[in-house]
Amino acid sequence: MQPLGRQPGRSPNSWHGFDRACCFCSAPLKTPLMDLLDRRFLFVVGKGGVGKTTVATGLALAASRRGKKVLLALVNCQERVSELLDTDPIGSEIVTIRENLDAVNMTPDAALQEYGLMILKVKAVFNAVFRNRLVRAFLKGTPGLEAWSMLGKAFYHACPPRGEPDYDLVIVDAPATGHALDMLRVPFVIESVAPPGLLRRDAARAVDMFRDPERSGAVLVTLPEYMPASETIELSDALSNELGIPVLQLVINRVLNVLFAEKERPVLEGLPSELADDSEIRGLAIAGKRRVLRETVQARAVRQVCTHIDAPWSELPYYDGLEKDPDTIEALSQALLKTV
Ligand SMILES: Nc1ncnc2c1ncn2[C@@H]1O[C@H](COP(=O)(O)OP(=O)(O)OP(=O)(O)O)[C@@H](O)[C@H]1O
Ligand SMILES: [Mg+2]
Repeated sequence: MQPLGRQPGRSPNSWHGFDRACCFCSAPLKTPLMDLLDRRFLFVVGKGGVGKTTVATGLALAASRRGKKVLLALVNCQERVSELLDTDPIGSEIVTIRENLDAVNMTPDAALQEYGLMILKVKAVFNAVFRNRLVRAFLKGTPGLEAWSMLGKAFYHACPPRGEPDYDLVIVDAPATGHALDMLRVPFVIESVAPPGLLRRDAARAVDMFRDPERSGAVLVTLPEYMPASETIELSDALSNELGIPVLQLVINRVLNVLFAEKERPVLEGLPSELADDSEIRGLAIAGKRRVLRETVQARAVRQVCTHIDAPWSELPYYDGLEKDPDTIEALSQALLKTV
């Protein structure tokens, strides 16, 4: 499929193609692009229904196929990864679903327990703290901490305070835009307002990693339509400007094949009005006009996101039978890595 967008201008020192000065002279030194899947932590984010879970699953498959040990972490959702990969339903306990690929559907309660245990290592200490009635009541009434328990758990698997991580790569299939931003803001807030201690230290470590483009970043998923494109640009701005979280890749999902050349478009747009009401090809002409309009909207939306967001992007076509045939998600996972 032909790429629809235009390669955006790369800002100097952009982390996609590290332009650094040689340490012996001032000549710029071009190091190769860093591979998305060589990061330790990816946050797949976008508007509701645009294909975040599908993309997160595709990335997880691609990384596990490369021999990386991967955790796909879903955030308390109506999970459909099991449908995509034809496995048993995924619950709040980590399960292995493919070679090198584990998955979990985190819930605040289970994550809080696990996260608490990970921090407080000894079960007796954990019970004394987290089973305490007052502490539980406080945690329940603090949505930020619920969000942090899940994000913190995912972070811990990628970056424990000591020793080797359990996984080479953790991919978080994030909630939709606003909720995802709220969730990501939590460690930043904890870092700036919590009293010194374990919680703050941990949040600071997470902030450090989330801002480091060589270890972590966001993958933005969008559709080639006006509203999703505008929302994606706002999301990208909030991530980069407000939180300092790098956007590593943009995925434009469900891109239509371009059927009509530029010069054919005006012809098709005008055709229905030139035909008689009882023309035998009237239906066809209207279908042609609608398709041209969709292709025009798509081209504009792709140009809009690709011009505003300084990240490599990939385009995914519409895949028939995504939930019915596990081979389809394998094909999608390979297409994801072909950036424009
Ligand atoms: N490239 C594609 N081709 C065909 N169908 C797709 C494609 N991407 C996603 N879908 C379908 O679109 C629907 C939404 O996808 P998905 O569940 O991945 O979106 P989401 O962003 O995770 O949604 P939510 O915000 O509800 O979690 C699903 O039915 C999925 O099978
Ligand atoms: Mg989803």
